[in-house]
Formats: sequence, structure tokens, C-alpha cells
Amino acid sequence: MADKFKILIIEDKKSMAEMLARTFHAEGHSAITSGTGEEGLQKILHEGADIVLTDLKLPGMSGLQVLRALKEKRPLIPVIMMTAFGSIETAVEAVKAGAYDFLTKPFDTSHMLALVEKALESGKLAADNLVLREEFAQELSFPMIIGKSKALMDSLELLKKAAPTRATVLITGESGTGKELFAKALHHLSPRKDGPFVAVNCAAIPKDLLESELFGHEKGSFTGAEARRLGKFELADKGTLFLDEIGEMDPALQAKLLRALQGEMIERVGGAEPFSVDVRVAAASNRDLEKAVRDGRFREDLYYRLNVFPVRIPPLRERREDIPLLARHFLELYGTELKKGLFELSAEALDALSGVEWKGNVRELANCIERAVIIADRGEINLEHLGLTPKAAEEDTGGLQRTASIAARAAEIEAIKGALAASGGNKSRACELLGVSYKTLLTKIKDYGIG
Ligand SMILES: Nc1ncnc2c1ncn2[C@@H]1O[C@H](COP(=O)(O)OP(=O)(O)OP(=O)(O)O)[C@@H](O)[C@H]1O
Ligand SMILES: [Mg+2]
Repeated sequence: MADKFKILIIEDKKSMAEMLARTFHAEGHSAITSGTGEEGLQKILHEGADIVLTDLKLPGMSGLQVLRALKEKRPLIPVIMMTAFGSIETAVEAVKAGAYDFLTKPFDTSHMLALVEKALESGKLAADNLVLREEFAQELSFPMIIGKSKALMDSLELLKKAAPTRATVLITGESGTGKELFAKALHHLSPRKDGPFVAVNCAAIPKDLLESELFGHEKGSFTGAEARRLGKFELADKGTLFLDEIGEMDPALQAKLLRALQGEMIERVGGAEPFSVDVRVAAASNRDLEKAVRDGRFREDLYYRLNVFPVRIPPLRERREDIPLLARHFLELYGTELKKGLFELSAEALDALSGVEWKGNVRELANCIERAVIIADRGEINLEHLGLTPKAAEEDTGGLQRTASIAARAAEIEAIKGALAASGGNKSRACELLGVSYKTLLTKIKDYGIG
């Protein structure tokens, strides 16, 4: 480290505090120690510090309370939390409360120093970040993420909070909810937006190749490795690495990934020296990772590393008010793309769309609209263009009932229109053709808005 910094260590275990202070002195920094949170806080407020390293468990005020007080009074001073393994959940909470990162005891001195250095860098950048934050605020209408439901807005709010930090973000949600879209938004809203956004689908790459895909390999390191290859971590330097379908990763590789995330050093397959990269990681999973942890298929420590900032995207059926907005957005998109001009949605069509289960979420809705635009030839999308017929029996009953009722509705509308056309608009005659009472016909005509 070139510059000299003032570090405050809050740690009730004297031997530990002294050991840390010595380490910093050896690096040319000044370090002061405090045995309690109360005293540490006073020292910072009166004497100042460039960075704070605090233990989580302290006799009086806890590390978390110190952090909260500091975030209020001296928000720009980075805080690193030190924890024992068992309290890792609280450590994650600390990062959410604004800690720069956490160190799990016992930790490696070089890793600790590297982290402190990074935090100090970020401290220097924090002032600029405040300006950037203002700019983000302007951008926060998220032009490419459509929706207005509270459920979606809450998720976006979290994403916005995470964006200016370098905390790992874990995006969860059912298939087609927009996880990749969120990951891209995270990148664009972050100070790394001019750096690369690199995505890796962990489920799509064969197990044996994923390691070299992520970390790269040296020439000749295994059969078929004919040239040196850069890994995605390297390619994402100064940018964001998106690890999609992380739940599918092999346990052996999970361990390597954890090491890379902790030390931020990576090693090419067959490479001699590990080297450092500056990468912000976002991960996504449509699997229940907590369950995978319980079942022993996913490492708990990696889960906590990734889950510092969890963002859950709700399924479309939990935010039906977004359906009309999304439908119109896709109509415009595909209408333009397919050079078919602008389309309107009929009231029935919109109504039907709003009632579907959308197991495939936004992607399924997008596909449905795209197909409708292809089929329709005039400027309006009607029920019949949507093809919302009962699907194969793999649907659950709820979904099936709903699709069946939509289809029944569509069939009724067709039948009524047909009968009215055949009777030349004579409703009594149409009733006879349909075998329903006059009253029923009138109700249906009104309900469906026919005529
Ligand atoms: N809120 C939204 N506004 C606009 N487009 C959206 C929205 N959500 C999703 N999309 C679009 O829907 C499609 C599916 O989204 P995306 O690929 O991000 O989903 P995913 O959660 O990663 O799905 P999977 O789990 O299958 O990988 C994309 O074309 C995306 O642009
Ligand atoms: Mg995806």
C-alpha cells in the first residue's frame, strides 16, 4: 500500500487487537485499538479514521450497532466486520446494513490486507459515488424493466441499493421472471457500467469444462488445451460477472469459486501463479438454493457469500397488474420487429391475458404476444390470436381450469357471434340456434361486450 492510513480496530480480545495493529504498523499504517464499541465510536468521532475493522460480538454495544451509528454519522468511512463462523448470518445482515464486507475468523492476513486496501479504495471513491448516486436516481425509471406493481418495485428498490456497492447479489425467481434482465440492470446502474458484463450459464456448460470456462487455462494443462485461454473472471475484470443457474454447479467447483470470491485471486487451470481480478459477481438461480444447502448439494459457505444481497423477483401471477403493461410493451416490440406496425389489444384479449397462470412468466407472455402478432393481420389482437387453449395434461389443475375457462369463453364468444351472423342479428333466432334463453344470451352479449 502506497498511502498511509489510519485504521481503527474494535476488538475485545486484546491479543487479537494487538496482532492486527502490528500487522498494519508493519505495512506503514497507523492503527488504534478499542476494546468496546462505545469507546471505538467516540474515537472515530473525535479523532477520525480512514477505515474501521470491528468485531461483531463485543461486550456492550455490538459491532452491528457500531456500524449503524457510523453509517448515520460518518457514512463514508468503510467498515469491515469480523465474525466467527457461526454468526455468518449476522455478518450478511451487516453487509446489508452498509458494512463494506466481512471477514470470517480465523482469516488469512494477506486476504485481510487485500480487503482493507480495496475498502480504502472504495472510501476514496465514496465521495464520487454520492454524485453518481444522484445520477442513478435520474436513471432509475429503468427503461427496459417494465412493470409498476409494488412487488416488482420492491425488488427493483433492492437492486438499486445494491448497485453502487460491490456486494454480491443473488437474484432468484422462477423461470422467465427476468433474472438476467435484472443482472444487466444491476451492471448498468453500477459504477462499473462502462466495464464488461459477462454472463456464464453454469447449467449449459459441461461439468468438466466449466472450471476452465470460469478461470481459464494454460496451454497444455489438459488434453485438448491447445492454447492459453482466458477465463470469464478475467474477461469480466472491472465489470460484472453474471453466474446464471449457479445451483447447477458441481460441488468441487463450488469450493474453487468460493476461494476465488473470498480472496479475489484466481488461478488458471494449470497456471502457476494466482492473480487478482476486480470483478463484481451477480448470481442467479431458479432453484431453491436454501433447500439445496439443506440437501447437501450446495455449499453453505458459498451460499452465504453469494447471498449478501438477495433479490427475489416475484412470479408474474403475483403481480398481475404488470400484465397489461408488459403485453403492450411486447406488442410494440414485436409489431416493430416484424414490421407489422402498431397493434391494439381488444378488451377480451387483455382480460384473458390477465387471467392466465403464466408458469413461464414474462418469457411465456412475450412468446404469446409474438405469436399473436405473427398470426394477426389487422391492427388488433383478439382472443383468437392468443391461442390460449387448454394445454397438455402436465399443467396443474389450477392452471388447467383457468386455461379451460378462457378457452370456453373464447368458444362461447365465437358461437354467439356466429349465431348472430347466421340470424342476421335477430337475437330470438340466435337463441334458438344456440339453445339458450333470451336472458342468458343478453347477459353474455353484455359480459363479453359483443356487438
Ligand atoms: N419486467 C420486464 N420488462 C420487460 N421485459 C422483461 C421483464 N421481465 C422479463 N422480461 C423479458 O422476458 C424474457 C425473459 O427474461 P430473462 O431471460 O431475464 O428471465 P430469467 O429469469 O433469466 O429466465 P430463466 O430462469 O429461464 O433463465 C427476456 O426477453 C426479458 O427481456
Ligand atoms: Mg436466465
